[in-house]
Amino acid sequence: MKTNAEALASRETLVSLIDRHSSALAVQLQAHHLNTFPPTSEKGIRHFQPSEAARFLGVKEVYLRQVSNDIDDLEVTTTPGGRRSYSVEDIDRIRRHLDKVGRADRRYLPRRRDGEALQIVSIMNFKGGSGKTTTSVHLAQYLALKGYRVLAIDLDPQASMSALFGHQPELDVHVNDTMYGAIRYDDARRPAKDVIRKTYIPGLDLVPGNLELMEFEHDTPRALMRRQPGDVMFFQRLADAIDEVRDDYDVVIIDCPPQLGYLTLSALSAATSVLVTVHPQMLDVMSMNQFLAMVADLLREVAEAGGNVDFAWLRYLITRFEPSDGPQNQMVGYLRSIFGAHVLNFPMLKSTAVSDAGLTNQTLYEVARGQFTRSTYDRAIESMNSVNDEIETLIKKAWGRTT
Ligand SMILES: Nc1ncnc2c1ncn2[C@@H]1O[C@H](COP(=O)(O)OP(=O)(O)OP(=O)(O)O)[C@@H](O)[C@H]1O
Ligand SMILES: [Mg+2]
Repeated sequence: MKTNAEALASRETLVSLIDRHSSALAVQLQAHHLNTFPPTSEKGIRHFQPSEAARFLGVKEVYLRQVSNDIDDLEVTTTPGGRRSYSVEDIDRIRRHLDKVGRADRRYLPRRRDGEALQIVSIMNFKGGSGKTTTSVHLAQYLALKGYRVLAIDLDPQASMSALFGHQPELDVHVNDTMYGAIRYDDARRPAKDVIRKTYIPGLDLVPGNLELMEFEHDTPRALMRRQPGDVMFFQRLADAIDEVRDDYDVVIIDCPPQLGYLTLSALSAATSVLVTVHPQMLDVMSMNQFLAMVADLLREVAEAGGNVDFAWLRYLITRFEPSDGPQNQMVGYLRSIFGAHVLNFPMLKSTAVSDAGLTNQTLYEVARGQFTRSTYDRAIESMNSVNDEIETLIKKAWGRTT
């Protein structure tokens, strides 16, 4: 048995060991980040082929070509072979142009109109690695590429979403730069607009995350103890912060941490829709079962305290799906039989294009297509677009639109 002194000494050793590991890792990560994104190279998004640009704009390729010729100072990149490729800025320009000159019965700018409420989609599941961040970032980028004004909120202290957007939490996200800055309980609280950053995609803004978000998990129990009648409930704080900027956006996408803490509860309460990502494997589904039971209990409490528990939609998205895997198929069948139409029709296929792009903090919309076998990339992006398209339809339905 260890004496007290020995136990204390080994604890100190552990502390210093972990400290050393943490510093060494930070140095390596910083070097990796500088390597991946040298200060001179801004992270950005790739150019799109005519078929892709036409899809984002909702027009035919021939029409796209014709319209882009009509815009005087638009210089679309053309390969020596005569193939055009469109930047996100080109697509944005063309969309605005179409809005002015296009068919009167078509809407090229799909932004919400009077009477259509801001859609806040919270992406959650407390199972780690179920694809929350991958789904959040691709959905946010897709919707922005389709012409919506999107705010992506990284509510996870691990800040993987921010990393995918090219931010390194320890390097360029400072104190009070995360959503915590806008929902904290003390006087250092800032307006929500002060924690929002532009990204390299027109129409897409980001609230980055870092470890300080954890403070909200620590502050909330204390705030609950000191609570005075009439104080705003903790789960209302995020909703209120988003409310400050509601006129600037059509859709808000919230990437939640893999726990059911106060941050996730706040995201649930702020949400108009909930997307639960689930990898179709027994352990994941069992853990989701616990997640759902806890969510239901907590929502009851939120409802009793006067919080929002109304949703436009709740959907389960099957992630990292391998169609050739028997047990996975069985699990998907099982989920569909239990949850019925609440499971999205399209699953997100497992693809090395997604995981490899992730290694350099890129998405399928950013990574160069030539980096993969064509069929690998095309299969992945087709699957991703189908999922995102299905979610876009749900958003439009929530606005009462039929097309
Ligand atoms: N469709 C896919 N095909 C292949 N790999 C994928 C796919 N979706 C996600 N991944 C990979 O799985 C890992 C976990 O994904 P992701 O970070 O999106 O999950 P998460 O639920 O946000 O995790 P956490 O709970 O830690 O926040 C990542 O390495 C990601 O690149
Ligand atoms: Mg994540």
